[in-house]
Amino acid sequence: MSNQPKIYVAGHRGMVGSAIVRQLLVQRHPAERIITRTHAELDLTNQAAVNQFFATERPDQVYLAAAKVGGIHANNTYPAEFIYGNLMVEANVVDAAFRHGVQKLLFLGSSCIYPKLADQPMREDALLTGTLEPTNEPYAIAKIAGIKLCESYNRQYGQSHGVDYRSVMPTNLYGPGDNYHPENSHVIPALIRRFHEAKINNAPTVTIWGTGTPRREFLYVDDMAAACVHVMNLDKATYDQHTQPMLSHINVGCGNDITIKALADAIGEAVGYQGEITFDPSKPDGTPRKLMDSSRLNTLGWHAIIDLEEGLKRAYADFQKTASPSI
Ligand SMILES: NC(=O)c1ccc[n+]([C@@H]2O[C@H](COP(=O)([O-])OP(=O)(O)OC[C@H]3O[C@@H](n4cnc5c(N)ncnc54)[C@H](OP(=O)(O)O)[C@@H]3O)[C@@H](O)[C@H]2O)c1
Repeated sequence: MSNQPKIYVAGHRGMVGSAIVRQLLVQRHPAERIITRTHAELDLTNQAAVNQFFATERPDQVYLAAAKVGGIHANNTYPAEFIYGNLMVEANVVDAAFRHGVQKLLFLGSSCIYPKLADQPMREDALLTGTLEPTNEPYAIAKIAGIKLCESYNRQYGQSHGVDYRSVMPTNLYGPGDNYHPENSHVIPALIRRFHEAKINNAPTVTIWGTGTPRREFLYVDDMAAACVHVMNLDKATYDQHTQPMLSHINVGCGNDITIKALADAIGEAVGYQGEITFDPSKPDGTPRKLMDSSRLNTLGWHAIIDLEEGLKRAYADFQKTASPSI
């Protein structure tokens, strides 16, 4: 019997969960010590089923990368499903993990937990200091509840049961397994698709909404997965020294933001689009800047290693493999 921990990756078919499985394998974690279940096999909103799963499998560690996620349109149209689905998944997994002796769990949140008008770059202590962006408030509230669930179990059961549940808040992610849907995708996969289509149709121009001046931060998903494993494996004394019992989450970003114009140029380059890129300033820009302060994680010894040029090259290769035949 292996002395390696038995690790449950929840949401292993998603973009982040699949990258965490890849990362564990790269770090030579034995495949037979990684447990997964598809949504069809285990609905994490079903408390009895989740308890049954933990009782049977008895994992040592949990990466909680399963969540109901979506863009502005989906968040606005299905707010009840977003708040209920995410609260249930978190509550069921965290509580079942505790009841079945899991001491180490990593919860994945999102930068939308921070107030709409948070100072930039956004530090961990901006949490709960202001009003959230209304379009995804139900989702953000569920993610904040996830952080507070982990902290509350640590505070109540840390001493008595060795519970050590941590949270990471990633910036915008991209890479293999992304959603390339034409209407319902994030900016990088959406632009990869548009530039690819423009290239194969010899379109002379690609026009992008807004002025191109807003600044955003992007992290390649395999860097995110490496950060997750790094935070999970930090020794408790180091983690405790850099966090507080009621302010324990850790931002994960690359530390740099770029303009949408520079991003569009880089994607055009990665895809090999030769035409012109123009902007439509009559369309909304959104918030001028969104950047995480990742200095807490940097101090803990982690930095991103895959730069945007390399990440976009890999993301486009993934798009060509998985999404382009359907165009
Ligand atoms: N992508 C980003 O840019 C980004 C940025 C910041 C934070 N994050 C965070 O990272 C985490 C993972 O995101 P992602 O981009 O990997 O999302 P994703 O690709 O949609 O993956 C989520 C996975 O969770 C599964 N899932 C959802 N509800 C479930 C349920 N009730 N029972 C069992 N499985 C369920 C989904 O399965 P089905 O598809 O079958 O439902 C899917 O495989 C989320 O917490 C998200 O907030 C992502």
